[in-house]
This record gives sequence, structure tokens and C-alpha cells, in this order.
Amino acid sequence: MASPKHFLDLSATTAEDLRSILEDAKTRKQATKAGTADKPLAGKMLAMIFEKPSTRTRVSFDVGMRQLGGETLFLSGTEMQLGRAETIGDTAKVLSRYVDAIMIRTTDHARLLEMAEHATVPVINALTDLTHPCQIMADIMTIEEHRGPVTGKTLAWTGDGNNVLHSLVEGAARFGYRMNMAVPLGSEPDDKILNWARNNGGEIMLCHDADRAVAGVDAVITDTWVSMNQEHKARGHNVFQPFQVNAELMKKAKEEALFLHCLPAHRGEEVTDEVIDGAQSVVFDEAENRLHAQKSILAWCLGAI
Ligand code: CP
Ligand code: NVA
Repeated sequence: MASPKHFLDLSATTAEDLRSILEDAKTRKQATKAGTADKPLAGKMLAMIFEKPSTRTRVSFDVGMRQLGGETLFLSGTEMQLGRAETIGDTAKVLSRYVDAIMIRTTDHARLLEMAEHATVPVINALTDLTHPCQIMADIMTIEEHRGPVTGKTLAWTGDGNNVLHSLVEGAARFGYRMNMAVPLGSEPDDKILNWARNNGGEIMLCHDADRAVAGVDAVITDTWVSMNQEHKARGHNVFQPFQVNAELMKKAKEEALFLHCLPAHRGEEVTDEVIDGAQSVVFDEAENRLHAQKSILAWCLGAI
């Protein structure tokens, strides 16, 4: 039996496949809005396991799967036997007998990999402590809708070196954009991910100075200073304050630079109201594009593109 087409990370999917998924998402978005979209996943069932909270991911996968003609099952980790120490491997084998694909939001990245190892249906990463690849597919789609091809552009991250940044860094290698990052000392992204990106042609620059990271860039991106399940690593807001995206910082980027944030935002912390509600912000287009990008991820995993 051929191995399932998992969507685990940008580093685990080829640049060609990622580009096909994005192009499908753009076409499918237009068709959906025109009321002419097909339903290639009719009769298919997606299990959605959440071991952490979610608004966007949960709703966009649920609505997306239905728009594609399929159905979904929402499974809260704490209400499953998984929450009472049934192994991920056994859970993967059992679910594979019932459903056509599994989406999981979990803590340790190893849990995702274990699910993929034992599942005989595609597994999709809906965020782990380490990465958030579906988010970056939506981010790139949003940047391209507003500013054309992302290849050759420079994106800047300022804030915590977290899961969203890790997938952005992997995206630099896959999509050919430059990635500037400014993080506080001690909040650096994972070395293995930086090395993977550099070894795969990613142009990435890491520093501790937000002004330097955003100078002349095409887009400024940030996220919460304290991610889910990282509360034990929480550092004082004074450490992160110099990395806040405010109007003054945005002035250092290109005049037409976009502002992105995966949401939920902590207004007044990593971003000011003025920026997130301002003319350069595309955060709600970005949230909408979770739906469109993930529909094409589902279609790709299930052999419909
Ligand atoms: N951006 C994102 O993944 O949001 P949720 O946590 O609401 O799913
Ligand atoms: N970095 C954040 C993203 C939330 C969508 C977290 O993991 O909590």
C-alpha cells in the first residue's frame, strides 16, 4: 500500500507540491466565491483532534472540509482515551479504520510524527509546540494576493522565536523569500530548523534588534509573546517590549509593507491597535485564507490535486 500523503511540515513537503497547493487554493477561492467550486471530497471523513484550544483552525478545517463535500468529527484530546494514556500509535491505527484523514493540534512535535508513523491515512499538522505549517500557507497566499509573488521578497519577524516563526523559516527555503528575525536574547528559534533552512537555500538573518530586522522589508509579522503550552517559559514583558510592532516600527519597513499576525492577538503587547487595525494590516484576509489554503491541503492529501 502506498504511504499516505501527510502534511506535516513545509520542510517535509516539496517546493513543487507546496506551490501546487497554493495555486489550487487561489483558483478554488475564486470558484467558491463564484459558487462554481466542485466537491472532490464527497463521502470523505476528517477527524480533527485538538489537544490545545483553537478558533481559526477548528472552524476553518470544519467549514473547509464541508465545502469540499466531506464531513468532520471534532475530537477533544481530553475527552478521548488519548487523554487517559492510550498511545498515539494505537489511536492512529484505530482512527485510520474509520476516517479518511486525521488533523491534529498537539503539544510535543513527536506526537504528530508518531501519529503519522502509525496512521494509514494522511495526517495534517494543525500546530505543535514546534511548527504551524498551515498558518504559513495562508500567510504566503495573503502576501501574494496583495503584493504578487513572494519569491525574492523580504519578510521580517519580531518577537518570540516560536512555532509560527519556525514554519516561516522553513518557508524561506521552500518559497524563496528572505527572512529577517529579531528576537530577545534567549528566545531564539530552534537551531536545527535554522540549519535546515540554510542548508536548503533559505536566506535568513537572525538578530536582536527589531529596527534592523524590519528595515526596508515587504512584510512585518509577529505573534504572541507566550505560546500555548509554553507558559512555563514565559518571560517578563519588559524583555519583549522592544520587539512590539507599533507605528514607529512599521515606519522602518517599506511604505507599502504589510502587517501579518496569525491571531489571536494580544493587543497592546506584541502589536498596538494602531497597527493591527491600520491600513497595512491584512490579518483578517490572512485568517480567511486559512480556510482556502487548508481546503487545498486536504485536497492534496486525499489525491484530489
Ligand atoms: N492562528 C491560529 O492557528 O488560530 P487558532 O489558535 O484560533 O486556531
Ligand atoms: N504561537 C501561538 C500560535 C497560536 C495560533 C501558540 O502556539 O500559541
